[in-house]
Amino acid sequence: MKDHILALLSDPQTYVSGEAMSRVLGISRVAVWKHIQAMIADGIPISAGPTGYRLDDDPDDLRPFRFREKASLIHHFPLTGSTMDEAAQLARDGCPAFTVAVAEHQSGGRGRLSRVWESAAGGLYFTIVIRPEAPTSYGGLFNLAAAVEMAQLVRERHGVDALVKWPNDILVQGKKLCGILSRVEAEAEQIRHLCIGIGLNVNNPVTTVNGSAVSLKQLGGKAVARRPILIEFINRFSACVDGFDPATVHRRWKSINHTLGRRVRVATVGDEYQGVAEDLDEYGGLILRGDDQRLMTVTHGDCFHES
Ligand code: BTN
Repeated sequence: MKDHILALLSDPQTYVSGEAMSRVLGISRVAVWKHIQAMIADGIPISAGPTGYRLDDDPDDLRPFRFREKASLIHHFPLTGSTMDEAAQLARDGCPAFTVAVAEHQSGGRGRLSRVWESAAGGLYFTIVIRPEAPTSYGGLFNLAAAVEMAQLVRERHGVDALVKWPNDILVQGKKLCGILSRVEAEAEQIRHLCIGIGLNVNNPVTTVNGSAVSLKQLGGKAVARRPILIEFINRFSACVDGFDPATVHRRWKSINHTLGRRVRVATVGDEYQGVAEDLDEYGGLILRGDDQRLMTVTHGDCFHES
């Protein structure tokens, strides 16, 4: 019943009368009133006016009922350890593709190479589960695709000159706006599911280690609503995954990349590689030309630009 009432109140500009609701829902006006009081007690911001009820808008609210027909895909956590763990559990329990675990705060947010990802209030911290029918070797390309979709989104909607740094950081003015981490579970070399975790600095205070991070709020000078970003990212990324085309991902990544042509150092847990970044390989690995002119491909790691 709660979902039906929310659907009827989907236009935040319009009050809907108790009588109209009781007619559509086939329950008494008193029953409508009781449901609405229970929803208000649950923290759903419904206001009563002279002509009925209205759901107050708040474009920064990430609770599932705000996502309308996608509500069942959204799992919202005021506080969790890491959305990576929440999403991994949902995926193992058989959730549908494009299920999202999103948190206001993470007490154990993780970055690549076992780093901590500071997750203060105001940022957008989420993990999306995808289930592409693809071999595990393509896993890295889905991460590049996620970075491209998020970078294009903030370029188009927020007018920032976002570029992708291999493998999938998003930088603006050389500072990190967004980080992406992924975890694949596979069966017989095929992807069973891939959890792609995204941390986007939106309104959160950024920890400026080496002055290297930036938020959308800093760039635009005002607070930015997070829900339109999450909705648009889900729409863009699901279209990209459903019609997945590696050549398109390569082309789009290269058109906004900040890495190719530079001298780079790539650190993995146990190794370090240096050279000039020449190209991407078929699976999104970075092809480096070393000082001895030999080519090598690096499949993962943290990339530092040295030129
Ligand atoms: C990196 O650049 O090192 C990757 C950062 C990824 C952070 C996101 S926030 C949502 C998801 N949950 C996590 O614990 N990490 C990812």
